[in-house]
Order: sequence, then C-alpha cells, then structure tokens
Amino acid sequence: MSKSEKLFAEATQIIPGGVNSPVRACRSVGSDPIFVDHGRGARIFDVDGKSYLDFVSSWGPLICGHATPWVTHALEEAIKKGTSFGAPTEGETKLAGLINENYPSMEMVRLVNSGTEAGMSVIRLARGFTGRDKIVKFQGCYHGHADSLLVSAGSGVATLGIPGCPGIPAALAELTLTVPYNDVNALTETFAKHGKDIAAVIVEPVAGNMGVVLPEPDFLPAIEKLTREHGALFICDEVITGFRLTVGGAQKHFGLKPDLTMLGKIIGGGLPLAAFGGRREVMESLAPVGGVYQAGTLSGNPLAVAAGIAAVEYLMRETSVYGRIRQSSLRWSSGLLEAAKSHGFNVCGNQIGSMSTMFFTEGPVRDYESALKSDTGLYGQFWRGMLERGFWLAPSQFEATFTSAGMIPDDIEAALDAANETLKAMKK
Ligand SMILES: Cc1ncc(COP(=O)(O)O)c(C=O)c1O
Repeated sequence: MSKSEKLFAEATQIIPGGVNSPVRACRSVGSDPIFVDHGRGARIFDVDGKSYLDFVSSWGPLICGHATPWVTHALEEAIKKGTSFGAPTEGETKLAGLINENYPSMEMVRLVNSGTEAGMSVIRLARGFTGRDKIVKFQGCYHGHADSLLVSAGSGVATLGIPGCPGIPAALAELTLTVPYNDVNALTETFAKHGKDIAAVIVEPVAGNMGVVLPEPDFLPAIEKLTREHGALFICDEVITGFRLTVGGAQKHFGLKPDLTMLGKIIGGGLPLAAFGGRREVMESLAPVGGVYQAGTLSGNPLAVAAGIAAVEYLMRETSVYGRIRQSSLRWSSGLLEAAKSHGFNVCGNQIGSMSTMFFTEGPVRDYESALKSDTGLYGQFWRGMLERGFWLAPSQFEATFTSAGMIPDDIEAALDAANETLKAMKK
C-alpha cells in the first residue's frame, strides 16, 4: 500500500469522501487522490516521492508555480507581525488600490476569503441595490457554492452529474433563471419576459467550469447591453480569468465595463483571498455605509493580503509571463489535439491565454449541452495514463488545463510525448 493510499483510507474515516472539496476525490476519473507533500516551481511532489508536472495550479491561483520566492518572502515578513487582527491594516488598502489600478470598473473593492463568498456577496448586493430578486446565470458556469448560484452549475456539480442540490430551497432556486452560454436569443427572451424583476446577470467571461468555453463575439456585449437597457447589473465573475487572461483580466481583453466584478484565486497568491468590487454607488450600498450586510472575521487577513500584493505586483512588473504561459498553452493544446486525432479519437479543443480543454467529443463545444457530449470514460483513461507518467491534469473533463510560468518548453514537449504514449495505449 502506498503512503497516499494509506492517508486516503485514514482521511475517509473522518472527512466525507476523504477530501475537503469534492473534485479532489478524483472519482470521475476512476482514481483515488494522490496526497501532496510539497510543490516547487511547475511541479508537485506526492507523499511517496513521485513528482508531477502540474497543469492544475491549485485550480488556478498559482499562475507562476509553487513556492515562488516573492510570495514566500512576503509571507515570512508578514507572519513575524502576527496572523490576524480583526482591525484594518495598511496592506488591505494597498491591495484594493492595485486591483482598482488594473480593473478600473472596480471603483470600490471589498476583500473576502473565497470566490464563493464573493459570489454570495455580489448577489445580495445586486438584489439590495436594485430591489429585485431574480438573477440570471448561464448553464455550466460555476460561481461558488452559494444557494442561488448552484443551479445548473459547472465544476464539481457537472463532474459528479448532480442534477439539483438537496438543501437548496426550491423557492430560492426558482429565483435563478438559467440560459445556455453564448445564447443571445435566449437571454433576450428572458429579459423580455422577466426584465423588470432581474437584479443581475452573472457570467464567467470565459467559461472555465464546463471545460474551457469561449464567448462568441456578440455574447458579452449583448449581456452588457441588455442589463443596461433593463436596469439590471452586469456581474463579471473573473475568479479564474482575473490576472490570468491579462493583468486586467477578461474585461480588459474584451473591452467590458461590468457593474460588479468578482476576483479570487490569483489575487491571493495561493492563500485564501478573494474580492468583489464595482461602481461606487453600488458598492456604497454595503454596510456600514448602506444597509446590505456582509462581513468576515478573517476578511483582508494580513498573511493573505501580503501574499496577494506580492503575486499581483510581480505580474504587473513581469508582464512577459503572459506571453510565455500563452505560448505553452498553445503548444500543449494544439499538439494534444493533433496527437489525439492521429490516434483516431473524435476530439475538439478550446484555448485562450493559459487556459485550455480538449474535449473527447467531435464538437464544437460552445455551451454546457455540447460539453456534456464528451466521453468522460475516455477522459478518465487519458487522465490515469498521464498521472502514471508524471503529469497532473485536472481530474475531470469539465475543468480547465492551466499552464504556469514555472513551465519551460521542454516540459510541454515531455507532456506531449507522454500524451502520445497514453493515447496510443487507450482503449476506444
Ligand atoms: C469562476 C469561479 N467563480 C467562483 C469560484 C468559487 O471560488 P472558491 O472555490 O474560492 O469558493 C470558482 C471556483 O473554482 C470559479 O472557478
């Protein structure tokens, strides 16, 4: 029995499924999880001493790889002063300022601990500000596990095939209207029918939680236009794309001006930190200025803030990172598609910046319905073959593959060699 197997057996006795977040259990790819000992650069090392090239990057935060010296140093300095005060610290204003500098639509910012918390908070804020109850989300998008946002959600909900989540009151779920991603007609019809009751439309500007799905050219502008026309708020969930697609995120890349934005993952440098922000008059509806209550014992935690500032300042300084991770991603995704096709698999792929997914379906994949046509059994075989060869991919077809700045071109070529061998050995 390996040490990972032993630790997993122990964990399942005390932690449901042995994991603290469902996709980590690796069930959909027919495996047990590996237990990680440490990470360095582009690699993670398991408790049995095996190393893996990491295409998961802790599900997005680690755009530059593991244990980067600038984040580690910032943490060492911060921890000497204490770990939490529950009173304001200078770093919080500095990080909010850095966010505003790169995301001018976020005129005011509040720091929280997770993307889920950011999502839950923006929905309450949008409802409080507009005095309306309904929200619109797109099928297959994931915005965290708050009650209103788990309807037709991607990520683990898609991976495990959970149709509706027990515990979410139907009366609340009914207030979430869902529309297929990229479907401007359906969105227009939804506004025609419910326009005066819609508080907000929330979207991942590039979907990353049904696998990577790109917005078609008219999609995001249509959301912006329809929300403006109907007095609803446009919420851009940049928890994945923020500081990843460009330093200014998807809103800079696509030229968007959302009313509210959610950030997470990268802005915490690998520590639990997220943020939401937007138009001043909307944000001033929050307590203590306005009546919409939102709070947190550890919000703006000094360690998370120090790591976040170090991560963000590095990306603002070293902008060549974006070209490198994009190049790696392009090479990986085009090489992988070519290899899979040469071995006779029906596949298609979506790629942008450092994000990509190869789907085991003919495609094209442009929404949740087309993503769900993927053969997840084949993905599982592919994933297990890659793991065996020392490559750590997301343990689900419905997630993004991230390249990190820790990777060098030889790493990608080695990954493609391993993919070729794996695909060759797979049973159709
Ligand atoms: C787009 C998006 N929004 C929100 C979240 C929720 O963030 P967290 O897992 O930090 O709660 C995620 C998590 O993967 C995400 O991908």
